Order: sequence, then structure tokens, then C-alpha cells
Amino acid sequence: MIGPLDHVGIAVRHLEAALARYRRLGLAPEAIEDIPAMGVRLAFLAAGPVRLELLEPTRPDAALGRFLESRGEGLHHVALRTPDILLEIRRLRDEGFDLIDLEPRTGALGRKVAFVHPRSVQGVLLELVEVPDGPS
Ligand code: CO
Repeated sequence: MIGPLDHVGIAVRHLEAALARYRRLGLAPEAIEDIPAMGVRLAFLAAGPVRLELLEPTRPDAALGRFLESRGEGLHHVALRTPDILLEIRRLRDEGFDLIDLEPRTGALGRKVAFVHPRSVQGVLLELVEVPDGPS
């Protein structure tokens, strides 16, 4: 099972500047986190039941750094929840999707995540996030 929407990832060059801008928009950060393994520093902003995830690269050679270099700031990925990420990875692989991660990795908030390549989802980088069934 896949869905509902968990968050939308947005690539930014400078997290503090982006947070100031989003504060003026009316959205405040819930948490700021550094994920060295992914080369990102990020902040989640609650927008109703969904979050925005602002992502700043901490290394130019990591995937997000390369994305910003070639595409600039803007929408980066869409994250959908699944209660069983391993099952979903296997299912999507069998359906012919091009998975970046065949094994889940630890993402923001300590949750298990896996990415599906944009080339198999009409140009959208898709993140799967494992969230157990029930309230979260
Ligand atoms: Co994300």
C-alpha cells in the first residue's frame, strides 16, 4: 500500500534564508536536522497534515548539491508513506520501476526511506517513507 502524501521536498541554497522566507509566509520549522550520509541539512515545516521539507546541500558532490547546481532551487521530491517499505520496494521493482535504493536507508526523523528514480515516475523523484499504520 502506498500513500498518503507525507511531505514535499524543496531544494534551497541557504536554509536560514529559506526559513526566514517561509516564516513570513506563515510556516515555522518543527525540526532542523543534519544528515551527513546524504549531504543535507533540512527543516520540516508543518502545513496542515502534510509537511514541507526544505533541503540545503552540505556537500557540492552529493546528489542534492548536484541537483542544485544543474536545476537551481525548487521542487525536489514528493514523499509518499507506506506501512512496509521493504514490501513496497520489492513490489515497485517487480512492477518495473527504477529504484535508487533497493534497501531502505535512514532518512530524516530516523525513518526508513527509499527513492525511486524520476525516469520511471514522469520526471518526479519519489521518496517512500515507512510510517506504521495508525496516527502519526
Ligand atoms: Co524527503
